[in-house]
Amino acid sequence: MSSVQIIHADPFAVRAANLIEEALQDSIAERGVGILSLCGGGTPKPVYQELSRRALPWEQIKLTFGDERCVPPDHPDSNYRMVQETLLNHIEIPTSNVLRMKGELEPEAAAEDYSQALQQLAPEGGVPVHDVILLGMGGDGHTASLFPDTAALQEQEKLVVANYVAKLEAWRLTMTYPLINAGREVFFLVNDHTKHSVVREVIDRTKPHPAAKIAPSNGQVLWLLGYSI
Ligand code: 6PG
Repeated sequence: MSSVQIIHADPFAVRAANLIEEALQDSIAERGVGILSLCGGGTPKPVYQELSRRALPWEQIKLTFGDERCVPPDHPDSNYRMVQETLLNHIEIPTSNVLRMKGELEPEAAAEDYSQALQQLAPEGGVPVHDVILLGMGGDGHTASLFPDTAALQEQEKLVVANYVAKLEAWRLTMTYPLINAGREVFFLVNDHTKHSVVREVIDRTKPHPAAKIAPSNGQVLWLLGYSI
């Protein structure tokens, strides 16, 4: 059963970047590599900007994406574009260390392509283990692109799937519960107090929100909240 901790991260970007940096440095010290999964949306932007100012050994860090919109990488909605603008354009990281979800491909092909790409992170086979997985949460309790009432919530085998989100009338690519719950540390980043009632419902598991099924089997969950509780 994963442990759950809540931290009032103030100032949000600095505290979140400190915790991410610390976790990555620990992983690198222990295993020679830090594997970090990035989330999309607006909340992480200042965190990535703060991370880009840290003296991290990026050559020993692998970056993956928890989800992506099915658009080209230069599209305004692309999570990759957002990460490029806030982080990648400001650090020296080998291109091969950044595993981009290819939103420009046909969704199912893109999901399969990414599942294959992730296998490099598990050379002995099996499910790749991320050291840190960053997740946001929507006001409907979605996380990554695991939205309520979508097929991806049922996936228990594949690591990455294409997921049609009817409410958005759009396809998304998303990591699945098997992959996310194989992580060592999951950091939820929430900096909007209007989401707090849903945060509570997720933590207390009083409502079946998609985010409530994030429970790393051998890891912990940390809620970094940018507002006072
Ligand atoms: C995405 C994200 C998504 C996001 C939440 C919160 O691709 O949009 O992965 O899960 O984290 O929707 O978004 P905000 O941070 O913009 O509130």
